[in-house]
Amino acid sequence: MKLVRVHFTVALFSAVGVLSYAQLAGSKPDPWPAHHAIPSIQDTETPAQRDARMQWWREARFGMFIHWGLYSIPAGTWNGQRIPNVGEWIMNTASIPVADYKALAPKFNPTGFSAHDIVALAKSSGMKYIVITAKHHDGFAMFDSKADPFNIVAATPFHRDPLRELAEECRRQGLKLGFYYSQDQDWTAPGGAAYKTGNHQPPTFHWDKAQDGDFAAYLHTKAIPQLKELLTNYGNFPAVIWFDTPTKEMTPALAGEIVALLNQHPNLIWNNRLGGSYPGDTETPEQYIPPQGFPGRDWESCMTMNDTWGYKAYDTNFKSTETLLRNLIDIASKGGNYLLNIGPDSHGIVPPPEIERLHQMGQWLSVNGEAIYNTQPTLFGGEAGSFSTTEKNNEGKPKFIPAWNWRSTTTANKIYIEIFTWPSGAFHLGRLPRNVTSAYLLADKTHKSLKITRTREGLDVQLPAKALEPIATVLVLNTN
Ligand code: GLC
Repeated sequence: MKLVRVHFTVALFSAVGVLSYAQLAGSKPDPWPAHHAIPSIQDTETPAQRDARMQWWREARFGMFIHWGLYSIPAGTWNGQRIPNVGEWIMNTASIPVADYKALAPKFNPTGFSAHDIVALAKSSGMKYIVITAKHHDGFAMFDSKADPFNIVAATPFHRDPLRELAEECRRQGLKLGFYYSQDQDWTAPGGAAYKTGNHQPPTFHWDKAQDGDFAAYLHTKAIPQLKELLTNYGNFPAVIWFDTPTKEMTPALAGEIVALLNQHPNLIWNNRLGGSYPGDTETPEQYIPPQGFPGRDWESCMTMNDTWGYKAYDTNFKSTETLLRNLIDIASKGGNYLLNIGPDSHGIVPPPEIERLHQMGQWLSVNGEAIYNTQPTLFGGEAGSFSTTEKNNEGKPKFIPAWNWRSTTTANKIYIEIFTWPSGAFHLGRLPRNVTSAYLLADKTHKSLKITRTREGLDVQLPAKALEPIATVLVLNTN
């Protein structure tokens, strides 16, 4: 019996009840939103076509985000001053003049960069895809761009195209590759949008006259030609385009011009940050995990391992492997993907604390991956926590109080219980949406059957005294 992802989520979290195209399977919304001068693939494809296009992404669950660029040279310090905020925003936060920032390029020679090692790191960590910053808000292209000379091949002594090398390695090692592209903000191109740190959607704010210019001209002379290069120069990649910080400058008409480009790549997946009222394929909660996921929508929580996306030499506030793994499990139990970031330094080296945590996540996934990849959300729901009846969040809505005892993921004939807090004696389940036939622990190579006791209140599974894995031990319930 094949589970249909979307229906489950909605059944569980109908409180929110956003109906997706899939649910409207019967009736195709026709015609597409009037304000879409150019219909996007999301507007025209059938639910079956969408499921086929999204399949690899939905099964993948875990990806690597890579923020890497010129900002890894100052690494959070400018003129001897530590600059607050995320490292990739240093030019903006410190209001660095365009000429001074561009002067970093001749100093950028990351000879320590190894596409093989980075792809192997992602693979051994259990990640199925990589999304790298092809161009971030600073406007520097990390690829061979004929459209603009401010790029790693033409403007640095490195003269190599890391996106090409990653594309070849991803094909060789069997991972998917996607490109992050800052389509709106560009702080070194005349007319590129820019806004001050932390303020979303304000008018463009330039701190250097060299930034002044026409936004549409910037799009037509740099962003769109570069997107064309990214979409055509790397073989069957990119599999994903990751847009960012849409601003009001991106009108539906201008966004439509980019959509016309994207439509030429029918398997491409792109996120909800293009702007111009195009919802894209995926919701992108940043630095948090939505309490109940995004019922009816594909979603991907992107997160840093410390407090910055781009490398900052003195940011050592790394999350524990336990936190990162439990985030992945929590996200999978709510039907989402986890895009976890690394920030290589100016030599192209991945910081050792990031490698260490990824290797430990990979070890757990090498034993328990079947409880994460290609699974469906939980059939329960209450285990994730509950909304406070007294406390409010900063939107004034009831605050969600997460619980961290266990999570659950599902396949057609298995229910996986990822146990964080080991109960003494038996694991109890109240309500059971299916008939459980047997149970075992995934990390127990013998898969020795565990004693099941059915009670009026539900089911008890007899567990060994100690957890097999400190971060999460997976109990498998066979069901029919
Ligand atoms: C935010 C940050 C940007 C980062 C992105 C990743 O938009 O501004 O620097 O690349 O998040 O999600």
